[in-house]
Amino acid sequence: MPVLSQIKKKFSQKKPLKDVRLGACLHVTKETAVLMEAFLAGGAQIALCGSNPLSTQDDIAAALVDQGVKVYAWREQGTQEYYWCIERVAHSAPSITLDDGADLVGTIHSKKTEVLAEVKGGTEETTTGVLRLRAMEQKGELKYPIIAVNDAYTKHLFDNRYGTGQSTIDGILRTTNVLLAGKNFVICGYGWCAKGLAMRAKGMGANVVVTEISPLRALEAAMDGFRVMPMAKASEVGDVFVTATGNLNVIRKEHLRRMKNGALLANSGHFNVEISLKDLDGLTSSKRNIRPNLEEYTLRNGRKLYLLADGRLVNLAAAEGHPSEVMDMSFADQALSVEYLVKNERMQPRVHPVPKQIDEATARLKLAAMNLCIDRLTNEQKKYLTTWESGTL
Ligand SMILES: NC(=O)c1ccc[n+]([C@@H]2O[C@H](COP(=O)([O-])OP(=O)(O)OC[C@H]3O[C@@H](n4cnc5c(N)ncnc54)[C@H](O)[C@@H]3O)[C@@H](O)[C@H]2O)c1
Repeated sequence: MPVLSQIKKKFSQKKPLKDVRLGACLHVTKETAVLMEAFLAGGAQIALCGSNPLSTQDDIAAALVDQGVKVYAWREQGTQEYYWCIERVAHSAPSITLDDGADLVGTIHSKKTEVLAEVKGGTEETTTGVLRLRAMEQKGELKYPIIAVNDAYTKHLFDNRYGTGQSTIDGILRTTNVLLAGKNFVICGYGWCAKGLAMRAKGMGANVVVTEISPLRALEAAMDGFRVMPMAKASEVGDVFVTATGNLNVIRKEHLRRMKNGALLANSGHFNVEISLKDLDGLTSSKRNIRPNLEEYTLRNGRKLYLLADGRLVNLAAAEGHPSEVMDMSFADQALSVEYLVKNERMQPRVHPVPKQIDEATARLKLAAMNLCIDRLTNEQKKYLTTWESGTL
């Protein structure tokens, strides 16, 4: 992770996070560990919990404890244990929070309001978290400023698209070893994550079908060469289904009933709510675990459906999440945004975009790490771009 390493070096020299208490709710993976090391180098104290009950890598959690991070995370937590861990992090009275899905912010604003006065600001890593925080802001309930790291160009354009695209397929293959070539691969949604997934699935020979609720995104999918149809129809043709919408019950009873025998169901959206597990259970006569992360559901209509990773984000629960190179950029944005929050104490309690200079700094560091150089504007060009008088020659 060369970008984050450069930031870590700067942090260890300047100690911009001296006396800062960080409370982080992030997937506890090796990439997160590198981010935590950068914060430690900057002088921060850290309490960390997982942002999903299934995504913690236990060896990483243990290694971070050795380095002095207070870690409240282990793999395969129950829902109550998951929220207990988040409450422990809230209890550490962080001055800055880092979230992936807004569960820590939510906990501090509902069950741990006594620590609110200590918190100066926070960051949010993912689309679902940003949506929840904007909802809080609109209701006037958000009590401290948040930087929406997800919305940085150097985050969603790479992490959501290339990271999720590749690692979702990795999770599906590790779990099932299915041949994607020739399969009808239904993707629910055509947002950043889904676009990457569609691109990669197509590259592996799958026939990609997209379902959408947005006319613009549906049109984009059609122009990119994919079949677009409503879920009711897609459910009849699909061999593999992947949800990536950030929405609720996108695959539900009326779709599950129509599916072909042997269909695979996976989710890559943040929460395990995109495939209705309640409906799946309701239609099922028996179920059994047939491989790690793969549950076979025999429906009362005699067909078998296969659910991957309990409907949790398949790339993290059944594989290793995004490749480190991708997280390098997302976490560089995180690190620089935390530094920005520490330096700028007077921000309003709103959801703020990542400052352009941070986005550009991350992109420049990444280009340098890839040994790529770009051009600079000449003085003549700078002037041309700020005038209106000159037209065609
Ligand atoms: N698995 C990962 O590692 C990972 C990484 C980044 C983001 N995420 C999560 O993935 C989800 C999607 O993120 P994104 O950045 O692609 O969001 P996005 O907003 O760019 O895209 C979501 C798309 O889903 C569509 N949609 C909403 N409801 C739908 C429905 N009922 N049927 C069909 N389409 C529907 C929307 O119109 C939109 O085009 C979020 O929950 C996000 O937090 C996961």
